[in-house]
Amino acid sequence: MAIQGNLPIGIFDSGFGGVSVLREIAALLPGEDLLYYGDNANAPYGGLNEEQIRTVTLAAVGRLIDRGIKALVVACNTATSASIETIRSEVSLPVIGMEPAVKPAVRMRSRGKVLVLATAATLRQQKLHTLVERLGNPDYLVPFACPGLVELVERGVTSGPELDEFLAGLFTPLRGLDVQVVVLGCTHFVFVRLAIENCFAPRPLVVDGNQGTAANLVRELARRDLLRQAGEDRQGAVEFITTGERERCEPTFQRLMAVPY
Ligand code: DGL
Repeated sequence: MAIQGNLPIGIFDSGFGGVSVLREIAALLPGEDLLYYGDNANAPYGGLNEEQIRTVTLAAVGRLIDRGIKALVVACNTATSASIETIRSEVSLPVIGMEPAVKPAVRMRSRGKVLVLATAATLRQQKLHTLVERLGNPDYLVPFACPGLVELVERGVTSGPELDEFLAGLFTPLRGLDVQVVVLGCTHFVFVRLAIENCFAPRPLVVDGNQGTAANLVRELARRDLLRQAGEDRQGAVEFITTGERERCEPTFQRLMAVPY
């Protein structure tokens, strides 16, 4: 059956991280309706094994597709790493995933280290290893897992002393390292970009994969002639679905839609 161009674009994440991707998509495609699915009840995915990540991801994707969407954005590096091939094999819609922005980071670097921040699950997946191998396994790439950081963002903590103390403790093993570029390899981390920047001196360059994903989505929709008409004067609607408690999650979603980073 042909996909209808007036359906919303589905955006999925384990929780709130993908809201940063949604914002990028809304900026590029203001006339499109966006349906955001946060699996907040099961977040974080980063501590799960591959089989568990695939199970929760496929369940979420199935529910999102049942609502009627014209394309699926897996706005989660962890779910992309563990499940993107499985999703693509089961779904006939355009499926766009995340990729940690290691390639642009390598281009930006002129000295020191490139710190790749992601969940433990993303860091151990073959997808990232293949990407790094293709770049010739540069010895200046430093992968670094951030257990606990997703949980803070899930609670809506994106600035302030609790976050600063947490990050200072997390990055203690990196003290003295000359970090020139930081890759935000988890969509949740985009919300704490400013606090992460402040942890390193001199201030590092920081890069994420959100723009790349949004650009891939536009390209894919254009290729399949699924974009709404450019001249159409309409403001797209944004709908939030969550597996978490609605009264707790809705205010955090709204705040993250507007918080600066
Ligand atoms: N937002 C996520 C990512 O990009 C997942 C974080 C998690 O649930 O652990 O990896």
